[in-house]
Amino acid sequence: MTEAASLVVAGIGQLVTGDPRHPAPGVIEDAVLAASGDLIVYAGPAAGFDHRLGPETVEVDARGAAVIPGFVDAHTHLVWLGDRSEEYALRAGGATYEEVAARGGGIRSTVTATTAGSLEELVAAARERARRMLRLGTTTVEVKSGYGQSHEAELRQLQAARMLGTEPDVPDVVTTYLPLHGPVDGDREEFLEGVLHEGLAGASHLARFVDCFCETGAWSVEECERLLSAGRAGGLRPKVHAEQRSRSGGAALAARVGAVSADHLDYADDGELRALAAAGVVGVVLPGASMVLDGPPPPGRRLREAGATVALATDCNPGTCWCESMPLMVSLAVATAGLTPAEALLAATSGGAAALGLMDRGRLLPGLRCDALVLETSNWLDVGYHLGANPVARVITAGRLAGP
Ligand code: NIG
Ligand code: FE
Repeated sequence: MTEAASLVVAGIGQLVTGDPRHPAPGVIEDAVLAASGDLIVYAGPAAGFDHRLGPETVEVDARGAAVIPGFVDAHTHLVWLGDRSEEYALRAGGATYEEVAARGGGIRSTVTATTAGSLEELVAAARERARRMLRLGTTTVEVKSGYGQSHEAELRQLQAARMLGTEPDVPDVVTTYLPLHGPVDGDREEFLEGVLHEGLAGASHLARFVDCFCETGAWSVEECERLLSAGRAGGLRPKVHAEQRSRSGGAALAARVGAVSADHLDYADDGELRALAAAGVVGVVLPGASMVLDGPPPPGRRLREAGATVALATDCNPGTCWCESMPLMVSLAVATAGLTPAEALLAATSGGAAALGLMDRGRLLPGLRCDALVLETSNWLDVGYHLGANPVARVITAGRLAGP
């Protein structure tokens, strides 16, 4: 007899494990999932389950529904204040993202609103979005700064994200310092020097990653490289917003510095995608932002063909994609990025975990964190197939049932 389980989900019609030893996405029929504390102790056929149930064991009957790993949303800008719905309407009328920014909208307008907010206001705004994410099945979310500009405001955004992460009913939060994002007022070199010294010193206690918007008209390859090198020396692993709006050199930079991920990549060529794969950089596809900005199709298929690990994320932000839904990203990845449903589901789970360097989650295997979703239906394919719906009935985070 083995140890008592603290949570047992029985009656699972299809258990999607993400086990790379089985055909993707790793489906076991008529299965049981069990956890002890926050870790999975069993994920397999019902017939092989022999863990003891104690008086404290929480039992869930899935009634034939499918169970999949919790989503890992590896790229968001969740902490913002203000409203850019006007900009959305302007773009719908033909204005480009850059034209709106040149008229004082874009990232600058979010910076103005966000820097004016208190820590409590930032947490409250992000909380609403994070709770929505959890209900849609996101069990881990990456949150970037980037709407602060002053060091103090940037660090306040990171603090807000970390405070949010200690609350109930939100996904587990991983933070990223994104100081090179919007336009700067004043001397650019002075700003960068300040980021490299004061900014990084403060952020190294509050974030796990450092990121930059490497783009013509935003931040140059050279500026971004200085940030990423200094960030790495301070213990922050690099990430890059690369080739989102034009071919600007961000993907090559990500490969050169050994970034944990290169994100967007809409304008990257196949050679650059192969360089990312060879350097072990995860390609993060953001099909919501690609759709809103009406650019080329996101490079899901091309990344797979290049041999890269692919992650899928919402990019949740007020400018290019206000969306908390990973199920919708799975739908878009299949419809617009050339991924198969199995590839898209894995990109949204274990791919996202890889983009955050988290080896402890993203699949349903013994020894990993028990972050799992009981679906509304018996078929895991419904996640992408049922457009715009919430396919999630119950959310399990770290071995516990979330919510009511
Ligand atoms: O990932 N491209 C830069 N950053 C965000 C958009 C930020 C904004 O427009 O507020 C993105 O798309
Ligand atoms: Fe982004």
